[in-house]
Amino acid sequence: MRPHLSLLAICTAGLSAAAAAKSSPVEYSTEPGYKNANHIFNTIQDSMRQWGSSLHHNGVSFFLATVPAGTQFYHGTSRSSFVNGTEWLAFEPEHAMNFARPHMGPPRRDPQHGGDEKDGKGDKGPNHEELRRKSNTPPVEEAQSDEDAKGYLHTYAAAKHLRLVYIDGMSAGKTQKGTLDSQDVLLFNNTIGNGDSGRQGPGPMGERERALGACELAEDTWAGRIDGVLRMEAGFEVILCDFERDLSLVNIIQVNSESGERGPGPKHDDDGKRPKGPGGPGGPGGPGGGGGGPDSSRWARAVSARYTGIGGHRVSLNYDNFITAFTYDIDLFPKDAIHPRLDHLSYAELEPIRRDLTATILTHDPREFSWDWQATTDMVITRYSEELSYFSSERMVSMESLRAQIGMLLEPFLDYSERNAVNEAERCATQFIPLPYQESPTIPARAVHGVTHSICATLLEAAAESDLSSAQKRIKELMEYLDWTTWKQCRGCQDNEICVIPIWPMGSVEDYAHPQCKDALQPYDSSEENYWGGFR
Ligand SMILES: *[C@@H]1O[C@H](CO)[C@@H](O)[C@H](O)[C@H]1NC(C)=O
Ligand SMILES: *[C@@H]1O[C@H](CO)[C@@H](O)[C@H](O)[C@H]1NC(C)=O
Repeated sequence: MRPHLSLLAICTAGLSAAAAAKSSPVEYSTEPGYKNANHIFNTIQDSMRQWGSSLHHNGVSFFLATVPAGTQFYHGTSRSSFVNGTEWLAFEPEHAMNFARPHMGPPRRDPQHGGDEKDGKGDKGPNHEELRRKSNTPPVEEAQSDEDAKGYLHTYAAAKHLRLVYIDGMSAGKTQKGTLDSQDVLLFNNTIGNGDSGRQGPGPMGERERALGACELAEDTWAGRIDGVLRMEAGFEVILCDFERDLSLVNIIQVNSESGERGPGPKHDDDGKRPKGPGGPGGPGGPGGGGGGPDSSRWARAVSARYTGIGGHRVSLNYDNFITAFTYDIDLFPKDAIHPRLDHLSYAELEPIRRDLTATILTHDPREFSWDWQATTDMVITRYSEELSYFSSERMVSMESLRAQIGMLLEPFLDYSERNAVNEAERCATQFIPLPYQESPTIPARAVHGVTHSICATLLEAAAESDLSSAQKRIKELMEYLDWTTWKQCRGCQDNEICVIPIWPMGSVEDYAHPQCKDALQPYDSSEENYWGGFR
């Protein structure tokens, strides 16, 4: 595993020697096998973390995931009895509480077709029925009318080790920014919401269709090897295909009905009504209010507690065998998009990804051994994040000081019997990569190597610059390429504050650009421009 270092001059005279004329980590990453190394590295780093997955909100990757038997989940509903069939589960009770409330959907127009209260659009088109029929899911029965008046929080435990497909990014965020591309475009070929009559295009939610579609894939295409899908919005959630098969009931409690009244649901500007589609575990609406206020305060603490990970080893991902659009020969950033998109790609262009995803599911087990590449990316980030930021800052006063500090950082990789910049960069780059993966690199191994090599080579080059601004320019370009979300973390929040970033449907453009510590009871300011724009 010794990539061709075309861009780095052999620099035997040491750190002060002049480096090659031109360098760019981006160019390095275009070498075969190293394409999109930065994005794949961040995909691994952000996985199952509310922080990174909210900022890098357009996931284009799929992971095999497992949740250990016994793990507790929450489901909010207007029903007081065990829920059957395909439904939503939240990892955090605060998330499910948003749905533990009286039935608030539109009148059930067509009881014959199941009168599905979770389907906010009242979409009973043929497509919907077709999906339901194929997925063999019984129509959800009418809730008893007396149950409609109250809200219930159900606690379930996984009755077995669940086998899930994790759809990364903010994949439960019903936005038009691309958070749904990997489902609606790649998995479902833009069929979601086609039965919708009252609205232009797909929308507002299409969640029941997505759930039934995913479970149909699980049953047919994926040969029953998958129990559901794992996604994220304001909290991680599971769409579980068969509640009665895979869950044990722990308890059902009736929630304070006033608390249910606070139930959220984004404002909707078309008709002045809230979209009533399911937004998550258990029912209509999405977590959080339209733009601010008390609704978000209920879940903001719980959600921010999972910024750095779902915790408790509740989810394990198979990092050695995952599928990411970043490794395919397609343009994911049309018109210089900041976040990857799939909606401009044809069915045929996406077919290799679908095919490989199916093959991976059919041949790999979510629970088989895989290297914890997220832990490896953590080592890289904790080693370099702060120093890169410092080196590029105004607090760095002179080239001599920068060169000396880069020297200290790279010292362990310099062999003074034989100074050689290529070998130095390579020793530095492979520091965190286990030997077997250096010898036969996998996708995550290449991504980590691509990123660490960019860092090490850029630092060597920066140290070889003669003036501070040129050196810092190299480091700033590197940081732009790396795009680590650690650089957006707030510092020094008080104990009544959380660091606020946009989490659909909440948050402003400013929250995205400059996350700040804010009062956890008033995290979102509805007067600012909403980051997410309209609703899906
Ligand atoms: C759900 O399934 C269980 C077990 O199959 C059954 O006993 C129960 O009556 C069902 N509940 C409803 C509401 O259909
Ligand atoms: C995917 O969608 C396109 C456009 O609607 C359609 O022409 C094509 O037949 C679909 N392909 C499959 C396999 O469903």
